[in-house]
Amino acid sequence: MKILIFATLISLTSCWVNLPDEAKTAKSMDEHPTIQKILREKKSRIFYCGGSLIRYNWVLTAAHCVLDPFIKLAVYLGIIDSRYGPAYWGADVTLKSDVKVHSSYNYTNFVNDIAMIYLRTATESIYNAYIGTIPLPKSHVNTNLDGRSSIVSGFGRTSDNSTQSQFLKYVQLYIASNSVCEGIYGTNVVRDTNICVATTTTASTCSGDSGGGLTTVLDGTNYVVGIVSFGAAASCEMGYPAGFTRVTSYLGWIDNQFTSLP
Ligand SMILES: *[C@@H]1O[C@H](CO)[C@@H](O)[C@H](O)[C@H]1NC(C)=O
Ligand SMILES: *[C@@H]1O[C@H](CO)[C@@H](O)[C@H](O)[C@H]1NC(C)=O
Repeated sequence: MKILIFATLISLTSCWVNLPDEAKTAKSMDEHPTIQKILREKKSRIFYCGGSLIRYNWVLTAAHCVLDPFIKLAVYLGIIDSRYGPAYWGADVTLKSDVKVHSSYNYTNFVNDIAMIYLRTATESIYNAYIGTIPLPKSHVNTNLDGRSSIVSGFGRTSDNSTQSQFLKYVQLYIASNSVCEGIYGTNVVRDTNICVATTTTASTCSGDSGGGLTTVLDGTNYVVGIVSFGAAASCEMGYPAGFTRVTSYLGWIDNQFTSLP
């Protein structure tokens, strides 16, 4: 088992595993107003990662989504059909300096898998019924999230052998204690700065979902508490837990990026 998982993690270079058939397809954009922030690889026109809009001009995503030097980034907001659109807003990311990657991101064990993208051409006028920001859980740094219901979304594969989904999908999963992920991926990978989600059914995150937000409602407000980071490359359908970057561990880093641009 250990070896299998190790191989799994090695092959987890970019993106991920599944929102299977149990995942509901968002039928309308306003059904899930917080989850339409998707990065797209320009060249192949394939959505390869997700992200969360945390200010009108800042997207929160995973470091491993933006490190490939051959990928040209574009950000599309307010889209649920990846083939025919429409996207209510979109722009290429042309300046490398607009992509902020955590300086201690470790591509071996995925520690500090967090990045932000500055949307240079966005203004507050991009807000509409389909595009909105999701708040950071600043008032919940010490809230225990274990056992909470959460939602994760993306255009990732819907099964181990499928292609990526044409439509945005989302699935409800339960946040688990970190020890559940430690038991599978080990303590070298799973740190206090991760958040773990149990996937006891075949529904989970999968290739293409990376960078997307894990959201949960706390005191009536929906917050982004995790960033899709890693899972078992062996399968998205076999009930392995999935690992996320824990947003509350990076609130200071995120604030620093807001002020890092001229
Ligand atoms: C990254 O993680 C690997 C595996 O644990 C470790 O050997 C290496 O020292 C880490 N790199 C840095 C820069 O911390
Ligand atoms: C996926 O494809 C592999 C290789 O072709 C096969 O061994 C496996 O059984 C397939 N998995 C499913 C769930 O169909």
